[in-house]
Amino acid sequence: MKYILGNWKANKNFIEVKQWIYTFQREYRANKNVVLGIFPPTPFISYVQGKLKDCKNVFVGSQTVSSFEKGSYTGEVTATSLDGVAEYSIIGHSERRRVFAETDEQLSEKVMQALAHNIVPVYCVRDEKDPIPNGVKFVAYEPIIAIGTGQNEPAAQTLMMKRKMKLPHDVVFIYGGSVNEKNASEYFSTGEIDGFLIGKASLDPKQFILIAETAK
Ligand code: PGA
Repeated sequence: MKYILGNWKANKNFIEVKQWIYTFQREYRANKNVVLGIFPPTPFISYVQGKLKDCKNVFVGSQTVSSFEKGSYTGEVTATSLDGVAEYSIIGHSERRRVFAETDEQLSEKVMQALAHNIVPVYCVRDEKDPIPNGVKFVAYEPIIAIGTGQNEPAAQTLMMKRKMKLPHDVVFIYGGSVNEKNASEYFSTGEIDGFLIGKASLDPKQFILIAETAK
């Protein structure tokens, strides 16, 4: 199975979300070997999930999850509140680590929260030095210099990083960092990269679908 995940980050207003959905529904053709995941800003998760729930092999996820279960934590997005709405959650994105100072300890707690609420963590690491918490079955390797720069990492280098990580065989390994419809097939031709976490190129539904088509 191949996984094409789109991280919209803090982009799009409600009108733009509706336009994205409209185009996506018109253009998307499911493929049994390819799963698509969409990670909208939190206010739109439930809307996008409702709109796409009948699309085969498409799921909706959150971009983060709180390390707290519930209670007096104003503004937090808890796994409790996402349970039944988001199937996956990105945890440990380098932007969360850098801008919001999330620590390895907090990230472990977030993973525990997600798992306790039936949410699959998509755990982001910057290199082999970032520890991966127990229970993670989905690792997104995202080298900092490749994120949002237009300079994707060559697939051969990505493969070397995968080897260094010594992941168990049942872990899904995806790459993120300036993936687009032109460079995507380079990764799949290695036979060892299971998909992508895509930022900028996922903001356009047509481009997102074109990338998914390289996975067939
Ligand atoms: P990018 O972002 O595709 O815009 O480089 C990737 C990411 O941050 O997940």
